[in-house]
Amino acid sequence: MSYQETYWESINDPEAFWLREAQLLQWIAEPPAALSLDEQGRQRWFRGGRLNVSQLALDAHVEAGRGEQPALLYDSPVSGSREQYTYRQLLDEVSRAAGMLRDLGVGHGDRVVIYMPMIPEAVIAMLACARLGAIHSVVFGGFAANELAVRIDDANPRVVLTASCGIEVDRVIPYQPLVDEALRRAEHKPARVVYVSRPQAQVAWDENRDLDWHTQLAQSAPAEPVAVDATDPLYILYTSGTTGKPKGVVRDSGGYAVALNWSLGAIYDLHPGDVFWTASDVGWVVGHSYIVYGPLIRGCTTVVYEGKPVRTPDAGAFWRVISEYRAKAFFTAPTAFRAIKKEDPEARHLQDYDLSCLENVFVAGERLDPPTYEWLSQTLQRPVIDHWWQTETGWPIVANPMGIEPLPIKSGSATVPMAGYDIRVLDDSGRELPAGEQGNLAIRLPLPPGCLPTLWNDEARFRKSYLERFPGFYDTSDGGLIDEDGYVYVMGRVDDVINVAGHRLSTGEMEEVIGDHSAVAECAVVGIHDDTKGELPVAFVVLKDGTDIDQERIEEDLVAMIRNEIGAIASLRRVAVVQKLPKTRSGKILRKSIRTLAKEAREQVPTPSTIDDASSLDEIADAIQTYNLGRYAS
Ligand code: COA
Ligand code: AMP
Repeated sequence: MSYQETYWESINDPEAFWLREAQLLQWIAEPPAALSLDEQGRQRWFRGGRLNVSQLALDAHVEAGRGEQPALLYDSPVSGSREQYTYRQLLDEVSRAAGMLRDLGVGHGDRVVIYMPMIPEAVIAMLACARLGAIHSVVFGGFAANELAVRIDDANPRVVLTASCGIEVDRVIPYQPLVDEALRRAEHKPARVVYVSRPQAQVAWDENRDLDWHTQLAQSAPAEPVAVDATDPLYILYTSGTTGKPKGVVRDSGGYAVALNWSLGAIYDLHPGDVFWTASDVGWVVGHSYIVYGPLIRGCTTVVYEGKPVRTPDAGAFWRVISEYRAKAFFTAPTAFRAIKKEDPEARHLQDYDLSCLENVFVAGERLDPPTYEWLSQTLQRPVIDHWWQTETGWPIVANPMGIEPLPIKSGSATVPMAGYDIRVLDDSGRELPAGEQGNLAIRLPLPPGCLPTLWNDEARFRKSYLERFPGFYDTSDGGLIDEDGYVYVMGRVDDVINVAGHRLSTGEMEEVIGDHSAVAECAVVGIHDDTKGELPVAFVVLKDGTDIDQERIEEDLVAMIRNEIGAIASLRRVAVVQKLPKTRSGKILRKSIRTLAKEAREQVPTPSTIDDASSLDEIADAIQTYNLGRYAS
């Protein structure tokens, strides 16, 4: 079938399309229908089906005779270690880890928070939860204690699974102080914390609470997979919204497994036995879908890499891993390639490695800017596939279907909608715009399987954030256009979410942290273009009357506050003090104008008719010059 035929069937007859895809997986009880309404009138996929996702990812492959095939290859230049797990070995580890969790009282529907670096135990922990029907919530290791505390309080986990440390290039980051601080701050107190002890950092054990992963595992009997409903949550993954409180994206089990399996074949052209390397982190959705669940459900070999694109030890790190493990497909964020290009513009390191195994390179997480696309495709001489998706969707909305029919690539476009995504461009009043016109990217309901059914414990916020603005549609909060050929161009967020080095962050959350400083009256954080990281946050602050604090001190204080409260990944480095923020008469901060001023001269930036005082824009323009913030502009 061509892409067009596949896509139109998925839109016109989703029932037949997705039931056929579902039948490719091993269910404990097959779903009687694809789409149906639940008791609350919500559209849900595969209601009545029963399955276990860890069974699909492990047992099914061992039973099919793939037990000796490598399932997980671990490569860690930062710790100097490598490990390999076959499907049989991974099944054994996961079954015992599930046994350990069961012994700690974890069962179907219980939550478990996982705060780990990129080590095999992170994957084992996720699959062990899935085996018991428990719901994991992985928290990215780069988040500070407060972020961990907020997630613990929202998810109320029975147990926290963590490690003694992470390693950032050559810097050991002990996790225990962060976990202890998070538990001190959290109102909910999980009964147990289990540490994977790594030689680089010791744990000072609290005998009443802390346990050692390896000791516990050695004592545990393996646990069998527990049958769950297709609509039972597999995980909660928190992501940034426009306010300080992160959104707990819920992923249900059956729809996700079916959608991932489809995407592996149709988009990534990957089949059982192929090696797939996704250089991301299990703390992000990309890691959930394409380091852990996707490749393993499909019967591929996945690579878990604990390192960076550069400095571990050099800009040839990615080429080494691809060539050493014979990856057929490779996926990362464009920012990683920009970092490589900066250090090795001629790609000299490439000469040291045999990349003949590599067929396709995939990028997502932020816009693939045309210069990076050109550099990468010329350097590698292979298709470089941009694809667009979000934590909420769990798998690509728009991509190039390399496993169905590779379509011509247009630089700047993520190509075409994937199965089940009926994408429209709407103006602010919800009117559909014709081809070529830019507006809000919205997806006509129902969303395909795998996308979020709700937000954890917050159905009202789910409806408000995604469904209310354009009735009958899911609002992606991204802007863009669709051209005459049906190619989708994603231009970026239309809300206050920014993308820093492929990490999704909330400027609203940073503003809340900064607002707590005793000298700050008000502030606006905006994302300003950066050549490597895509965007960097910059804070514009108005100080309280009569405060006596100089620019350097306030910058130092606020940078430290953001690092301590959100984490180093927020990458706030610059703060500009101004007398007034540009606002509308109703008090809304004109962030877009501030962003534009960082790129263009004041004369080129129109003064909005709704502004309450145009001189505030002049002041921002002066501040950008004085503090040299425009240097971020391309
Ligand atoms: N634990 C603790 N700290 C972390 C961390 C983690 N897991 N991840 C990042 N940090 C820290 C970094 O050490 C750095 O600290 P510093 O300010 O003290 O130097 C800070 O957070 C910023 O990190 P990062 O944005 O990653 O910058 P970097 O300079 O270390 O690396 C890139 C830049 C582009 C190489 C890196 O961001 C990268 O590889 N990005 C790809 C992103 C990605 O995979 N995104 C997922 C979607 S596909
Ligand atoms: P996350 O939820 O962290 O995956 O971030 C999702 C956001 O990243 C999207 O809403 C987009 O703004 C951005 N994004 C992801 N992939 C792309 C892409 N291929 N092109 C443009 N923006 C992207």
